[in-house]
Amino acid sequence: MAHVTDYIRTIPDFPHEGILFRDVTTLFADRDGLRLAIEGLVEACEGLQIDTVAGLEARGFILGGALADRLGTGFVPIRKKGKLPGRTIGQSYKLEYGEAEVELHDDALHQGQKVLLVDDLLATGGTAEAGIKLIERLGAEVVACAFIIDLKDLGGRKLLEGLGHRVEALCAYEGA
Ligand code: PRP
Ligand code: MG
Repeated sequence: MAHVTDYIRTIPDFPHEGILFRDVTTLFADRDGLRLAIEGLVEACEGLQIDTVAGLEARGFILGGALADRLGTGFVPIRKKGKLPGRTIGQSYKLEYGEAEVELHDDALHQGQKVLLVDDLLATGGTAEAGIKLIERLGAEVVACAFIIDLKDLGGRKLLEGLGHRVEALCAYEGA
């Protein structure tokens, strides 16, 4: 049986020396790989009530759009600061060096809406945590956070589960 890891390419020393970059462009580019990824995520969410899918820029958009179509929901983008045209709320989070901020339209979600949060990869969990905070600030509820890859040693799963969230990942890698 094929697995998503068969399609994920590892590139050494990107973006810095010593980092093994897990590249999902090769997974997305292959029709069987992409289908495996989307079907894996659909399966991981079976039984959950999901009203809408929220995706984290940038690679979460590719998965989120396809997943929303499969689940029969709409799609809401959580974007890097300064990209959304309407009124937004923002949430900053820590990067390895410095800070970044993601934004959500303030009318994108409503009270009580059940949201599936999607991204390609979970590392420290900082990006997902910022996304969760934005969703919750609009009164909506994160029913699960779904990823293709969990970089286990970076602690993202622990962080999100510690906040009481369900985490789904199709594969995990040791090390950063
Ligand atoms: C990568 C990845 C996740 C995030 C995970 O995105 O796609 O979104 O890092 O890291 P964390 O769990 O430590 O927050 P990146 O910030 O490189 O941006 P991109 O998706 O726009 O390329
Ligand atoms: Mg990203």
